Amino acid sequence: MTRDLALAIPPALVDRLRSARSVAALTGAGVSAESGVPTFRDAQTGLWAKFDPTELATPSAFARNPKFVWDWYAWRRELLAGARPNAGHLALAALERRVARFHLITQNVDGLHQAAGSSDVIELHGSIGRIRCSRGCGTVARWAVAQGDLPPRCAGCGAFLRPDVVWFEEMLPPDALAAAEDAARHCDVLLVIGTAAEVYPAAALPRSARACGATVVEINPQPTALSDAVDHVLRGPSGVVLPALVAAAWPATSLS
Ligand code: APR
Repeated sequence: MTRDLALAIPPALVDRLRSARSVAALTGAGVSAESGVPTFRDAQTGLWAKFDPTELATPSAFARNPKFVWDWYAWRRELLAGARPNAGHLALAALERRVARFHLITQNVDGLHQAAGSSDVIELHGSIGRIRCSRGCGTVARWAVAQGDLPPRCAGCGAFLRPDVVWFEEMLPPDALAAAEDAARHCDVLLVIGTAAEVYPAAALPRSARACGATVVEINPQPTALSDAVDHVLRGPSGVVLPALVAAAWPATSLS
């Protein structure tokens, strides 16, 4: 599989990547699929195929039933407890060491990029590893298994604590969004990995990068809403494609 893919990677892309001064990557749930983390929209296996996002991932859902929402995130955290970075995460960490300027923009809340050794990860949708005050008094903390009444209360103002993730109908963290837009506008190559590219504003980044002259590459086993608006499509699982891409550009690179 890897050998065939090496051939399938266009030499023009390899040259562009090797000569790039600034590379960015935008990742979605698909990059963690090979670590056993469910995606959101894959048929049957995706979280939104099994659960109703309006009951679990909106501020109004939390207001209606805070314990139900808290328990669901506690369940997702248990799922993640056994997950380890896969070869795709490791290849991105290796790529960061190979290029002058590298920005990793993720929609994922699982922390697997950081566990793989990537630094300065731009978390567009927050992190399931943190909790924060639902009233926004400023309290933010590492997620700790809470005893007693759930969700636990904010020590600062007594409001419920909630997962520090971005829910539907909510704004992205302004600093993270600004950093992501800047990285997209100033990169030579943007790798778009494992995202259906259906959720905005993240899904707007590839088009903005391309409009600024970047070469945009989609890495996904399936076609997406973005497939017709990129320069290269590498159809395959990112845990296979990314190591092959890095090895094609820098044959001596160790991925571990
Ligand atoms: N390698 C690469 N891509 C994969 C793999 C894999 N092994 N397995 C699946 N994919 C692709 C699917 O084909 C799909 O296009 O990953 C994509 C996952 O899409 P979604 O489940 O829609 O996830 P994502 O695009 O990250 O969702 C964006 O929506 O629900 C919200 O906040 C949530 O951050 C999330 C946002």
